[in-house]
Amino acid sequence: MRRRTTPDSFDATAVRPWNAQLDGLGYGGDYNPEQWPAEVRDEDVRLMREAGVNILSVAIFSWATLEPREGELDWTWLDETMDSLHAASIQVALATATASPPPWLTRKHPEILPRLADGTVLHQGGRQAYAVTHPVHRDYALRMAARMAERYGDHPALALWHVDNEIGCHVPRDYSDSAAAAFRDWLRERYTTVDRLNEAWGTTFWSQRYADFDDVLPPLTVPAIVNPTQQLDFDRFSSDALLDYYRDLRDTLREITPHVPTTTNLMTTTATKGMDYFSWSDDLDVVANDHYTIAADDERHVELALSADLARGVAHGAPWILMEHSTSAVNWQPRNRTKAPGEMLRNSLQHVARGADSVMFFQWRQSRAGAEKYHSAMVPHAGTDTDVWRSTVDLGSALQRLGEVRGSRVVARAALIVDYPAWWAAELDSHPTQELRYMDEVRSWYTALWDQGVTVDTVTPHTDLAGYDLVVAPTLYLVDDEGAANIARAAERGATVAVTFFSGIVDSHDHVRLGGYPGAFRDLLGVRTEEFYPLQAAETVHVTGKAVGGDATADLWTEKTHVLDGTEVVASYDDGALAGHPAVTRRNVGSGAAWYMGTRLERSGLDALVGRLVEESGVAPDGIGPAGVEIVRRRSNDGATTWLFALNHTDADTTLHGVSGIELLGGDAVVGDLAVPAGAVRVVREA
Ligand code: GLA
Repeated sequence: MRRRTTPDSFDATAVRPWNAQLDGLGYGGDYNPEQWPAEVRDEDVRLMREAGVNILSVAIFSWATLEPREGELDWTWLDETMDSLHAASIQVALATATASPPPWLTRKHPEILPRLADGTVLHQGGRQAYAVTHPVHRDYALRMAARMAERYGDHPALALWHVDNEIGCHVPRDYSDSAAAAFRDWLRERYTTVDRLNEAWGTTFWSQRYADFDDVLPPLTVPAIVNPTQQLDFDRFSSDALLDYYRDLRDTLREITPHVPTTTNLMTTTATKGMDYFSWSDDLDVVANDHYTIAADDERHVELALSADLARGVAHGAPWILMEHSTSAVNWQPRNRTKAPGEMLRNSLQHVARGADSVMFFQWRQSRAGAEKYHSAMVPHAGTDTDVWRSTVDLGSALQRLGEVRGSRVVARAALIVDYPAWWAAELDSHPTQELRYMDEVRSWYTALWDQGVTVDTVTPHTDLAGYDLVVAPTLYLVDDEGAANIARAAERGATVAVTFFSGIVDSHDHVRLGGYPGAFRDLLGVRTEEFYPLQAAETVHVTGKAVGGDATADLWTEKTHVLDGTEVVASYDDGALAGHPAVTRRNVGSGAAWYMGTRLERSGLDALVGRLVEESGVAPDGIGPAGVEIVRRRSNDGATTWLFALNHTDADTTLHGVSGIELLGGDAVVGDLAVPAGAVRVVREA
């Protein structure tokens, strides 16, 4: 697919940091001045200064405004915007303006429109109506990006390139003819011969054997169950195709502005299944993430923390940019929720606590027209005599006071393995249960660790695990031999490793590892499962054992497991078809241990088990507060300074003990006791 590559002369060390021109942390949001008359734009700059805004994303959806007719360019408003923002000392994350092709383009070239699996064409009139693989679209998009780089590459307001927008958000999978052709090219490269593809896809089954790569289709709508490996490869291909689109745009920018960093905004928890972001890491000069709290989620602060930790994981621990979140309600959930007083500040600083060096919103000024007019913004419809505006100003001054944390890192001794191919494969159809949701498993383990105050890094099965004392692999259904060996090495070396049900079942082609489940981890865990016993809706079983808190309830999944010599049964089924059989096991491995959980424990049982794992591994929580009070630390790169973030997500005031230093938001000295009122945040530079 790729036609451009980074030039040989490209020197990665010459790329300047995205925040080279900023003091402290970044603060701002998406800015769409083309939607407003001149007098509003003048007011914008005045208000931005009042709020302490220092960085804005500009021109994300501006293609049709910048190029109203093919080849007819109108830069007036953008020239003025860049100049006036520069005059106000505001930096710009300038977009490639490609996030939605202009209507004249899709009218002239309807072949660039993407398609669903059933052939439905996704038309123009919303946004993101383009096939990332289509060569005609690609040419137009690259030309637009090149024009932006040529015009603004030397502009002093330019901080970084914001490539396209949330690539893959609305069209993570495209089934158009151009996607089909690109998929076949991708398969040719992966398998070289069609026989190898036949082998990998197991096509002797159901008469699917291919004579030629040209016979292969994307997983279109079919009478019965598409070949699972075909689906899995299409997932891999689609993530690569989206990344390829990013790379092509980035390399176009690099040719013209080799010193300017490039990123695109990821969505690590909202709408993310399409993209294997861990495989995107190395192509981003800085990781940027968008996050929106989910109204229906009672523990949305935990979901937020997971999103932030995923962003930090993709960034290999480096500070990252929160590119978008919301000041208050969004407009795209079934029932949108207005944020409570203090919630926006708490959300923002929670991202900072977990490694963000910039806090940005969608968007600066709430639109009057269009699909997002009921989405909150920094300047709301009602103007500046509003709670939202006052919180915007308050957040700006809070971020100024926290400037010294910039560049510091979150340090974790616990690792949570998250793997996109395992996710894709675990949720393929015709499995023992259709009710298993990979991210639910990740989330429940993440929550249990969050409840214990343990900060985790999100990692892949291939990450070097040397720095971790606790490694958790929830439902790692698909794993290759190297990944499985890497996880086993962590236990040998002394870590406590926990693996949960439906892990290590298949290889990277989705072929079952024979000889008893979980094939990839049988030796490590010292168990052999002969048959799965998925539970029916509302069916639960009891599990007993000290490690699960005595008597625990489990649902969704059970399995008939035998332990090998040297493996200890720490909890067993008390009832149901498997009464008396092992549910949770533990084995000494090297200087560490390997635990297996063959069922899904409900919250209290999982909390008890995770408590045991935390204790055994020696991973210390970042601090102990009451339930719902989050404590996280950032540490300076020389290790000399730590900043403790305490976020009270509850509606009760609390006091943390054993904290000393300077509280940066209020400027007060803290000696021993740190009061954290209901809903509040405190940040202490520790003594
Ligand atoms: C995404 C997009 C923005 C905006 C927000 C609304 O994150 O990138 O353009 O639509 O959603 O929440």
